[in-house]
Amino acid sequence: MNILITGSRGQLGSELQKIQKMQHREGWLLMDLPELDITDARAVEVVCRERQIGVIVNCAAYTAVDKAEGDVDAAFRVNRDGAAALASVAKVTDVPLLHVSTDYVFDGSSNRPYREDDPAIPCGVYGQSKWEGEEAIRSSGCSHLIVRTSWLYSAHGQNFVKTMLRLGRERESISVVFDQTGTPTWAADLAGAIVSMLDRCDPARHYADTFHYSNEGVCSWYDFAREIMDAAGLSCRVLPIESYEYPTPVTRPPYSVLNKRKIKDAWGLEIPYWRESLLKMLREAGGSS
Ligand SMILES: NC(=O)c1ccc[n+]([C@@H]2O[C@H](COP(=O)([O-])OP(=O)(O)OC[C@H]3O[C@@H](n4cnc5c(N)ncnc54)[C@H](OP(=O)(O)O)[C@@H]3O)[C@@H](O)[C@H]2O)c1
Repeated sequence: MNILITGSRGQLGSELQKIQKMQHREGWLLMDLPELDITDARAVEVVCRERQIGVIVNCAAYTAVDKAEGDVDAAFRVNRDGAAALASVAKVTDVPLLHVSTDYVFDGSSNRPYREDDPAIPCGVYGQSKWEGEEAIRSSGCSHLIVRTSWLYSAHGQNFVKTMLRLGRERESISVVFDQTGTPTWAADLAGAIVSMLDRCDPARHYADTFHYSNEGVCSWYDFAREIMDAAGLSCRVLPIESYEYPTPVTRPPYSVLNKRKIKDAWGLEIPYWRESLLKMLREAGGSS
């Protein structure tokens, strides 16, 4: 089956590309800006028809959470209108769309892991634009699988792990919030889960479902930072602070743990524990001691 992967040079797209190379998978078409803009439905449709695409996997997104507050049009253009454009192509070409979304569709006021059908109360412009992208896909009538994830990191691109590794080498101590709880997700694990879903999905079936995926376990950003320093053998001290001591343009969800029961049951997935995945990522990136 031919697969179109959009946003292929981002964190998640790059991990999918690694799997394609390692497993010698044929028929995968990996595209990003400038060669394929997901907001250009005509261009996407031409690619899908010419290359006889059987599934679209959307890894493209506007992911700069704080910048989005001052860049509202750009965030909505990619995260809402781009998702809608892909959904319209999926509908007319009759192929499923696997779309990736975020824990920021929730405000983080829950005290138990979020289930897929919990009411959305999006966080900031980014969260709202991602939520409206999800809704555009649902209302398009295309066959779709939406996978929400959280705290994504990889050896590629900008993310918390890489920031901690840099600061850990530069500084003697660093302050990190301990009152925001969630679960990190190694992009390689999410990419593997997506490939398992693609292998098991039946393109002739009509899907209309939403799933949650992160690594297993729960931690605060403080715990995550401590683990990164320890695993990388960095002596930088990590000091716990509260969110009000580190103000950001967008208030982060205090609790964004995702319940993964549904995706595990539906697709037979085994999900690695976040600490083990972090160690693997650091080993692969050559960052652990
Ligand atoms: N990062 C996280 O912590 C996090 C957490 C939860 C959920 N997610 C979701 O997970 C998914 C993957 O995130 P990620 O971290 O891999 O994102 P990423 O690293 O920011 O990659 C996104 C890619 O999409 C490209 N892109 C932007 N606008 C585009 C357009 N109009 N057409 C085609 N490509 C476009 C970007 O190109 P440029 O770099 O040139 O803009 C980039 O290569 C996204 O849906 C994101 O919302 C991420």
